[in-house]
Amino acid sequence: MSQHQTQDITQAVLDRLADDADPRFRQIISAVVRHTHALVKEIDLKPDEWMAAIQFLTRVGQTCDDKRQEFILLSDTLGVSMLVVQLDQARRSAKALADAAAADARPTEATVQGPFYWAGSPELPLGSDIGQGMPGEPAHYSGRITDTHGQPIAHCCLDVWSGDGEGVYDMQMGSEAGMRLRARFHTDDDGRYHFWSIKPTFYPVPDDGPVGDMLRAMGRHPNRPGHIHMMVYSDGFVPLTTHLFAHDSPYLDSDAVFGVRDSLVVPYELHPPGTAPDGRTMDRPYHSTHYDFVLAAAN
Ligand code: BEZ
Ligand code: FE
Repeated sequence: MSQHQTQDITQAVLDRLADDADPRFRQIISAVVRHTHALVKEIDLKPDEWMAAIQFLTRVGQTCDDKRQEFILLSDTLGVSMLVVQLDQARRSAKALADAAAADARPTEATVQGPFYWAGSPELPLGSDIGQGMPGEPAHYSGRITDTHGQPIAHCCLDVWSGDGEGVYDMQMGSEAGMRLRARFHTDDDGRYHFWSIKPTFYPVPDDGPVGDMLRAMGRHPNRPGHIHMMVYSDGFVPLTTHLFAHDSPYLDSDAVFGVRDSLVVPYELHPPGTAPDGRTMDRPYHSTHYDFVLAAAN
């Protein structure tokens, strides 16, 4: 064998990594090399398959623009985003989780943020209706935000957003549409919140690009069960990004991005027209749902 020939390519690539490279980068790139080489060997990757994979990733990149992030969608639909969310919550809430074992108040489970968060939504008073005039059935949301010992978190921010009753987000309607179905509320002195919106319905993740082609090739649908997004944050606590899922929505068992947690599935109780919990007179049927959030103290 000439001195230029490499017997074990995996080891040869690892050997070329500089000793003084950043330690975390060394760990990550070494794992990328080892796992990618192992994958190629395991499936005995053929040259035309390798080229098809390169072309697929090229299309994923070409589908990205300032509004659409096809790489994140790829990560979401392969369950990677949700795995990262779970690891992050476990790491950041480790102390609170240990304390909670005794206190029996675990931090609320996190789930994916998704692409439709829009910072700077209007700050509205408790009781406001952000669903007024929107397609969808009205729903009253209420609950309390506490720490893992059940103590209320006063003036805690609850940043909410959802699609409308037809599953469409404002960000999908063109920039002239502006913000809708999103707002920031702050809890009262007892950690309580309440507001009106709509009951969200299921909708498909964008499936007109390469990720949609991948889902079809896998025999999968692109739908997410109906949910409202919540970001909950207050000084001194681990910020929480999560959803509430409607208990009767289709696709709870097959969310396209693997974001459903049983603890986040909530009943939406249907009421006939009449006086709502906050004294408002409703001239059409409406839903109500109640959910208490628990935040972990920042370690
Ligand atoms: C969403 O819930 O808004 C979402 C999450 C992941 C991918 C696409 C949409
Ligand atoms: Fe969503």
